[in-house]
Amino acid sequence: MKKLLYQFDTDALPSVFDNVVAYDGGADQVIPYGSVSPENVGGLVEGAIFTRAPKDKKNTAIFVGGGNLLAGEALFQAVQKKFFSNFRVSLMLDSNGANTTAAACVAWLSHGRSLQGMEAVILAGTGPVGQRAAVMLAQEGVRVTLTGRQLDRTQATCDAIAQRFGVTVHALAAPDLASRAAAVQQADIIVGTGAAGVVLLEEAQWKDLPRLKLIADANASPPAGIAGIDLMDKGRERHGKLAFGAIGFGALKLALHRACVARLFEQNDLRLDAAEIYAIAKTMVG
Ligand SMILES: NC(=O)c1ccc[n+]([C@@H]2O[C@H](COP(=O)([O-])OP(=O)(O)OC[C@H]3O[C@@H](n4cnc5c(N)ncnc54)[C@H](OP(=O)(O)O)[C@@H]3O)[C@@H](O)[C@H]2O)c1
Repeated sequence: MKKLLYQFDTDALPSVFDNVVAYDGGADQVIPYGSVSPENVGGLVEGAIFTRAPKDKKNTAIFVGGGNLLAGEALFQAVQKKFFSNFRVSLMLDSNGANTTAAACVAWLSHGRSLQGMEAVILAGTGPVGQRAAVMLAQEGVRVTLTGRQLDRTQATCDAIAQRFGVTVHALAAPDLASRAAAVQQADIIVGTGAAGVVLLEEAQWKDLPRLKLIADANASPPAGIAGIDLMDKGRERHGKLAFGAIGFGALKLALHRACVARLFEQNDLRLDAAEIYAIAKTMVG
């Protein structure tokens, strides 16, 4: 029986990246749908849950993606609302790679060490990757501050995280290099999750920080989001701190994304969001 992955994307054009990784993760056929929303997803889900016998349902799965994490979360909930009894299929949420990217990054940061009690600053953390990194770090016992250019938007992001995951993340407005440098003065961990090509911090602004132990940058498009970190860094020591670049931990992101897709076809009731994907990442890191 063919393994079918229904790719529900909240954007008009379904992500090619997610499509390719779905095939590489073991799907026999990936069927992409664009502009999927809670309002129009019902019939699509019914088609997935009513068509195969109970023992065969694990061969159908759903992937929710798209550029907007809030829209993805709403769609993810709407899909689950259509499930009942054993009329369900496995599904995964990874809008903009938020869960797999953040999980890979935080799994590397926590690999072989406890982060409990540390202070982390996530620079430009209001996007999908920053939001999920904040959740995963907070759940590791880290006190997390998340910066954005505007306080109201940043606070709204932290409020949404608290409501959905029950963790406290502190909002801080840091619109320029100087304010971001001030924000990281007491940090044990700095994670850059800014939009591609945006410089968030200069090397001189972090290299002598006395408390800083771990520094990671998710941006893979030059120039680096955090200057002085190489794309390929994977726990490389720089100025006495361990540095992680976007490709350095991105290899785990890709492997994790594929592994998650593969798991969708092992049962018909798996639900992969932040906690589950992070748990899988921790088994794969190193
Ligand atoms: N390594 C990997 O495997 C991998 C995988 C996926 C994504 N990525 C990368 O991870 C990063 C984060 O992804 P994302 O989708 O979460 O990012 P995003 O939503 O595109 O951007 C994150 C935040 O950057 C801030 N920002 C935008 N323009 C800015 C500017 N000129 N100055 C300062 N801040 C600015 C915005 O925050 P405010 O408007 O609130 O200030 C935005 O919410 C991106 O660089 C992406 O390319 C890496």
